Amino acid sequence: MEKEIKSLLERLTEAHGVSGYEMGVGKIVYHELEKYADSVETDNFGNVISLKKASVKDAPKVMLAGHMDEIGLIVKHIDDKGFLFFEKVGGISPRVLFSQPVVVHGKKGPVSGLINCKPPETPEEANKIPDLKAFFIDVGAKNKAEAEKLGVRIGDSVTFERPFKVLGSGNILASKAFDDRVGVCVIIETMKKLAKEKVEANVYGVADVQEEVGCRGAQVAAYRIAPNMAIAVDITLAGDIPGVAEKDQVTKIGAGPAIKVMDEAGGGLGLISHPKVRELLVSTAEEEKIPYQMEVLPRGSTDAAAIHLTREGVPSGVISIPTRYAHSYEILDVNDVVNAVKLLTATIKKIKKNINFK
Ligand code: CO
Ligand code: ZN
Repeated sequence: MEKEIKSLLERLTEAHGVSGYEMGVGKIVYHELEKYADSVETDNFGNVISLKKASVKDAPKVMLAGHMDEIGLIVKHIDDKGFLFFEKVGGISPRVLFSQPVVVHGKKGPVSGLINCKPPETPEEANKIPDLKAFFIDVGAKNKAEAEKLGVRIGDSVTFERPFKVLGSGNILASKAFDDRVGVCVIIETMKKLAKEKVEANVYGVADVQEEVGCRGAQVAAYRIAPNMAIAVDITLAGDIPGVAEKDQVTKIGAGPAIKVMDEAGGGLGLISHPKVRELLVSTAEEEKIPYQMEVLPRGSTDAAAIHLTREGVPSGVISIPTRYAHSYEILDVNDVVNAVKLLTATIKKIKKNINFK
């Protein structure tokens, strides 16, 4: 399974799809799901919704959600000298922008560029991180007309060039967009495994859009599906790096997928996992001897935050893939992905048609 997951992850993460511009990723995902699900369709929003039908009547609907979009930029201005200015899409810190290679998705195809800003003029300035507004993209055009000739327009999406890499002894992977193509990958692989199984749930494997700007795709997909239960699959912070105290690490890579207890609890959109969904995940991991860790995340959230507030409320939980350097050049351990597929598949197989959340 590890080899297949690596190659699917490479294909998914090398595709480009800033929030609102996920069509290319959607096509790959549709063709994958088509092979394993009983049905698959793309809604008007761009969400790809697949279904594995239950083998019994009156079975509950279980929604699995992973988001196809990635953080990136949108071109907002091209100046007379041919430099591009941008707005960010999703959570992006200016710290990751110095000397960052990017791809501008113009009307004539991809255009290579480099992000930078003017060099500091004083020692104080040298020690400060400039505001995001100070950065621009250099596409090598000598003026505006030349930039436009390359096919660059206002509104074009821009993705970071951080190629898929295999590190260490082969299990450590790096990419620009494990957030959240790894979640999409786990859902595709789970639908593939379930294809040969009889299950007491109608399983909706959903690859949704626009999570990074506020879980917009998952919100409309959940309304349409009206699930009885949901599990999102997304990345979470792995703080097992120099300078982070053990108590603040949240998770570690290679120690198993994380089962979320809680995320964003400061008033923003967040989730406190439904205790029964959480316990189902934990007991499944214990019974199947799948390594796992518990996750309490101080900031950030996932699609489950939007899904659980749908209609009359949807008991929800999250399987998280521990990831270092989230929203920059991300690193994970493929073993955690393999175990997440095992955990999600085994959990669904344990759902009984009369499951009750009270
Ligand atoms: Co994210
Ligand atoms: Zn995410």
